[in-house]
Amino acid sequence: VQAPLVDGHCRRIDYLRLSVTDRCDLRCTYCMPERMQFLPRRDILTLEELHRLALGFIARGVRRIRLTGGEPLVRRDVMDLVRALGRQLGQGLEELTLTTNGLQLARHADGLAAAGVRRINVSLDTLEPETFARLARRDRLADVLAGIEAARAAGLSVKINTVALRGVNDHAIPDLVAWAHGQGHAITLIEVMPLGEVEEDRFDRYLPLDTVRAALEARWTLTPSAHRTGGPARYADIAETGGRVGFITPLSANFCDGCNRVRVTATGQLYPCLGGAERVDLRAALRSGEDDEPLDRALDEAMRIKPARHHFRIDAPAAAPAQPRHMSVTGG
Ligand code: GTP
Ligand code: 5AD
Ligand code: SF4
Repeated sequence: VQAPLVDGHCRRIDYLRLSVTDRCDLRCTYCMPERMQFLPRRDILTLEELHRLALGFIARGVRRIRLTGGEPLVRRDVMDLVRALGRQLGQGLEELTLTTNGLQLARHADGLAAAGVRRINVSLDTLEPETFARLARRDRLADVLAGIEAARAAGLSVKINTVALRGVNDHAIPDLVAWAHGQGHAITLIEVMPLGEVEEDRFDRYLPLDTVRAALEARWTLTPSAHRTGGPARYADIAETGGRVGFITPLSANFCDGCNRVRVTATGQLYPCLGGAERVDLRAALRSGEDDEPLDRALDEAMRIKPARHHFRIDAPAAAPAQPRHMSVTGG
């Protein structure tokens, strides 16, 4: 057994977010510009490289892997990776999940379940077709809803992810929570983070989640929940709906003390923090040969440079410009 990954702040890192593509079939205004420049395909890790990378992390004690993007299901061979990683479940890997926009779920839900995926996170910011079309710049709400339905039919547990956006979807968040809980899905609300240049002014759109929580409390009884996934969300149970709501508050309430994760881009760049510039080139380590020693040294280096916390700010955009990377590159 190799040394588990522990960072310089004594945090055990056992969760990997692995981005399999920076491409996406939506163009959410807070995430990407309309004319997003995607990475050249030759720079993207091959299926074999992604698999080898994941095995390297599992050997170092990573117990949970979440596939991300971009939109992971737009990568043509992604289900081969899902099946390959599914075979590691029970062999060190305890959970394989993914975060998706849902558009391709109708095609893939059964395959995901068959490979051993148990729960997935589906991004959905609104149930209003016009708002969806404006926000995602594609008129595809019906496809997302069909995807969520397919996931349920396949036996996958679904968590809805909703970015709270002032003046865009905030008025309808309680209704979205009611809908999710009525469908039997948990829902997590997210504060918008300043990642990458987009046309939209995220400063204007930023909504601290206290405000949303107050709106929920005006309607229902919320009690703090002990439920944790090791991720940034803090959960509450709603007595009246019988459902759970999560709050991800990078701006208004920092959660980095308990960080358990790193993320790797589709080009094999390991970012130890979503909000930092620090990175380690795993692709170079992988491409240096068959021996995994360079990969292991790169992982050690990542543990050494992992910052204590992110320093996102959205209150003073001039003082704190957007991170150069888009969320779709870093994978969240
Ligand atoms: P689980 O905890 O496994 O259920 O998933 P998650 O909520 O961490 O993952 P998901 O991919 O659904 O991400 C939800 C939101 O949390 C996205 O906006 C991510 O960018 C954000 N997020 C996930 N991990 C981190 C992190 O380490 N730091 C910050 N600032 N945001 C994160
Ligand atoms: N800030 C917060 N969340 C974001 N997402 C994409 N871009 C941002 C951003 N700038 C969300 C998506 C998806 C999750 C992976 O990240 O809506 O639910
Ligand atoms: Fe695509 Fe997700 Fe970005 Fe929307 S937030 S454009 S679904 S990667």
